[in-house]
Amino acid sequence: MPLLDARDPQAVLAAAAHLEAGELLAFPTETVYGLGARADVDDAVRRIFAAKGRPAAHPLIVHAADIEQAQRFALSWPTVAQKLAQAFWPGPLTLIVPRQPRLASVAAGGQASIGLRVPAHPVAQALLREALRRGVTGVAAPSANRFGRVSATTAAHVAQEFGPALQVLDGGECPGGIESAIVDCTGAQPTLLRPGLLTRERIEAVLGSALGEPDASSPRASGTLRSHYAPDAKVRLMPTQPLRDALGMLGDQASSLRLAVYSRSAMPAVRGIVLRRMPDNAAAAAHELFAVLRELDARGVTLIWIELPPASAEWDGVSDRLQRAAAA
Ligand code: TXA
Ligand code: MG
Repeated sequence: MPLLDARDPQAVLAAAAHLEAGELLAFPTETVYGLGARADVDDAVRRIFAAKGRPAAHPLIVHAADIEQAQRFALSWPTVAQKLAQAFWPGPLTLIVPRQPRLASVAAGGQASIGLRVPAHPVAQALLREALRRGVTGVAAPSANRFGRVSATTAAHVAQEFGPALQVLDGGECPGGIESAIVDCTGAQPTLLRPGLLTRERIEAVLGSALGEPDASSPRASGTLRSHYAPDAKVRLMPTQPLRDALGMLGDQASSLRLAVYSRSAMPAVRGIVLRRMPDNAAAAAHELFAVLRELDARGVTLIWIELPPASAEWDGVSDRLQRAAAA
């Protein structure tokens, strides 16, 4: 029972009924799996914080079936939010807007703002529509991982995080692989709080102006803590040549290190070291990133040396997750 196969239409109905009843449900989106609960029932939302071990002041994203449903949670709808929602929803973008004071305050961690997203994944869409039919207007859902850890991109990863008792709607592998881009629309200038696969250029092209950088006054986002997205193994990010040089110098002590190397460039084979190639394409790298970190943990690797991704914009989301993994 805890695993529902989303290819079965009955499973989506059962999953929506589960949400309606105020229970936790993990479900797939185009980015990563979410750990969901109905946003309008405070006790349901509190279960999310308890399961994740997440501090109650860290706000969750509320997911809605469409732009009209999302807008219900907003006190006002800034022009920038409208432009971005029109261009990118449904899709991997979260908008922070002023919150309707009486709604979803636990989900919003008590903040005056709220993070909203209309996901594009067909299973998430079917689930949100069925939930809406049952009176559930929004589903609060952080990424389905314990606080500070690597996000889950398969149903099996969700079960690794929370155990077999959690109800999971299994929609296969998430296509995107890293979390949505987050744009704060509450200030004078919209700011990018978290990069995703949607590039800064594409967002700025729709806005017709530059995105600001988050500063001390920006709302807190746990995905923006310096250390986050961490596997058990220690991660070190290195430029190509220093990585190659370091490998060349390992010699006989190599196998005792329990080291893995994850790189786009070819690296010299060293006995006792796991070499894993990162795709050349940013979307493909994002798609597999968290699964690879989990797989290396499962192999008992304790140290992962990762080649720095290219500095170009399409790699921003992957670079951001790697930097935070390395800061742990
Ligand atoms: O792709 C995604 O965004 C996934 C899927 C499940 O939708 N969700 C996700 O949720 O990554 P989570 O909770 O792991 O990350 C959401 C981020 C957090 O860093 C949170 O602090 C921030 O969004 N956030 C949510 N509401 C906010 C608000 N009102 N103000 C500032 N930051 C907010
Ligand atoms: Mg997260």
